[in-house]
Amino acid sequence: MKPVRKAVLPVAGLGTRVLPGTKTVPKELLNVVDRPILSYIVAEARAAGIEHIVFVTGRGKQAIEDYFDHQVELEAQLKAKGKTDVLDALLAELPRPGEMSFVRQMAPLGLGHAVWCARDIIGDEPFAVMLPDVIVDAAPGALKQLIEVHDRIGGNVIGVEAVPDSETHKYGVVAPGERDGRLVQMTGMVEKPPQGSAPSNLSIAGRYILQPEIFAALAAQEKGAGGEIQLTDAMVRLMAGQPFHAYEYEGVTHDCGDKIGLLKANVALALKRPDLGPAARAAVEAILAG
Ligand code: G1P
Repeated sequence: MKPVRKAVLPVAGLGTRVLPGTKTVPKELLNVVDRPILSYIVAEARAAGIEHIVFVTGRGKQAIEDYFDHQVELEAQLKAKGKTDVLDALLAELPRPGEMSFVRQMAPLGLGHAVWCARDIIGDEPFAVMLPDVIVDAAPGALKQLIEVHDRIGGNVIGVEAVPDSETHKYGVVAPGERDGRLVQMTGMVEKPPQGSAPSNLSIAGRYILQPEIFAALAAQEKGAGGEIQLTDAMVRLMAGQPFHAYEYEGVTHDCGDKIGLLKANVALALKRPDLGPAARAAVEAILAG
């Protein structure tokens, strides 16, 4: 079985749920506490052993590429001022030479289309997809949990999270078969099922391990929910010939593409930080006390 070495991060999304902030700043670079959302995702990928990250970008997203490069003046200033802690933190984010690729999605045709844009860089091996507006607070990280499952049973492994029935219409939802602890055999899945028609409350949460045959399934470029080329629909096509499992990973999921989700991520992760937790708690309590 080939190991999972590469991850695709589709970062071309317009961030319409958190406009106007995302008019000129990519939503993936919005700060959660003191670093961009993307920084958490890249850290999760690296901790899972990912060796190469493919960003699928779009117009107006150049700042992402710049974030993962030297900022020569800033680094010189920090060095001159002796701010070595901050400088070290900046340098630790930088990729090894060649660790990152950037490929352009030229039109916002959907998540399936974005993933398909990475096909030549991924080649013929299993790979991860990580949705970059979803931070999962987990140890070990969510992707590492999925890769461990993949290394054990192979096939396609989809990270899922139980959501209230009233929320299922916002997600891809899994039709479950037999369950073994957190691992659930999949019998189907549906993207954004209308209210009341979801096959379960297990939502596709933004972490996937996929086999390269998904690219052939995506090549049909068929439009699904919302008129977009959906990754979920291609996975359904692939299910005819390949095993699919859902894994209910351990951890707390923060949807940072949403106003309240972003707020919750900021509060929750600040409260957990050893250096900021007590001050953050005092600030939140003071607000609540009015
Ligand atoms: C995408 C996927 C969906 C998944 C969701 C998780 O939808 O298509 O299956 O449940 O991300 O956030 P989007 O949120 O881009 O509409």
